[in-house]
Amino acid sequence: MPEPTFEAPPALPIYLDHAASTAVRPEAVAAMEPYLADAIGNPSAHHAAGRRASEALEAARAEVAAVLRAMPEEVVFTSGGTESINAAIKGVAFAQMEAGVGRHIVTTEIEHHAVLYSAQFLERFGFEVEVLPVDEYGRVTPAQVAAALRPDTALVSIGYANNEVGTVQPIAEIGRAVRERAAALGRRIPLHTDAVQVATTHSLDVDALGVDLLSLSGHKFAGPKGTGILYLRRDVPFLELLSGGGQERQRRSGTENVPGIVGMALALRLAQEERDWFVTRTAALRTRLLAAVLAACPDVHVNGHPTEHVPHNLHLCFPELEGEVLVEALDRAGIEASAGAACTSATWEPSHVLLAMGVPLELAIGSLRMTLWSSTTEAEVDYVARQVPLAVHQVRAAAQPAR
Ligand SMILES: Cc1ncc(COP(=O)(O)O)c(C=O)c1O
Repeated sequence: MPEPTFEAPPALPIYLDHAASTAVRPEAVAAMEPYLADAIGNPSAHHAAGRRASEALEAARAEVAAVLRAMPEEVVFTSGGTESINAAIKGVAFAQMEAGVGRHIVTTEIEHHAVLYSAQFLERFGFEVEVLPVDEYGRVTPAQVAAALRPDTALVSIGYANNEVGTVQPIAEIGRAVRERAAALGRRIPLHTDAVQVATTHSLDVDALGVDLLSLSGHKFAGPKGTGILYLRRDVPFLELLSGGGQERQRRSGTENVPGIVGMALALRLAQEERDWFVTRTAALRTRLLAAVLAACPDVHVNGHPTEHVPHNLHLCFPELEGEVLVEALDRAGIEASAGAACTSATWEPSHVLLAMGVPLELAIGSLRMTLWSSTTEAEVDYVARQVPLAVHQVRAAAQPAR
């Protein structure tokens, strides 16, 4: 008789919340270290330490520009996705208002709140925000976007991939449609994309995408938290959000976070170099996890587009339970997942994304988002696949009124 083999259980906790944040990769930690302790100069200072910091900053800018296939001076470093998005939307909107272009803004129902609330903020200044509906998968069509454009449209903002359900928009086609329609109107209408969720999975070539502004966040691609990138095409009208010392070519004042920027730029380059492998690896893990969960929980609903989604996002809805309670049960089993977007879960309410996609309220409440990474293992996925049905059963049983 052959000896039975026992697979070692995976180490707990298992982190499956990579859409919320990621660990800084070791290469980035190593690259940042000299700028934390030794090379402490302010990049604006006129001495050797300042020059060293400034050289590191400009090298990072060139590295990011190469990824975006843009010019280094079109790269603005920020404190994260939220700041990049606020700067993009408010910065362009106010500049367009000042130039007398118009106050019409086009976006979609399923954008991140950084986009939706920035647009809502502008309504106080007389802007008119047109929020496009999405289909059951969370997609808009290029024709839909083009049809919304008017002679007074100041800006269009469409997310590349949704942070909750993972649906990817046809951004390059939208870019083309916006350019064609704008040309027919005798205008140029800037297009911004929130690309925060696609840095590890999609090309960020701004010309191929046809975008004029693009927002990224370092901590979503294994860079440090509190770092971000705003790509700003050189001739796009823009008023700065932060005024002061005039850093970042007057577009974002404030001493640059040199160590963070150095780490972020390297993490972005490596994420883009490893893109194919990341996609193949996480797609296979997601397929394995989904198959096992479907087999054990036939009543589960899978959200997002069946093919046009980021490969590492599995978003599910379970009837007759609350997602937050399920997340707590999974946490007790050593699994760290999310009921939706981490950014909004401090004030938990049904997801605006799921409701916009037409998911009924009672189902939308039971949402679970698991986002994998290239470091996720098969053993972890198999453990999670066993624990999810147990947790679902436990949560439903606990919710039954006592007889
Ligand atoms: C799609 C999207 N946009 C913007 C943000 C905000 O990014 P940050 O956390 O860097 O402010 C997030 C964060 O979850 C996101 O997922």
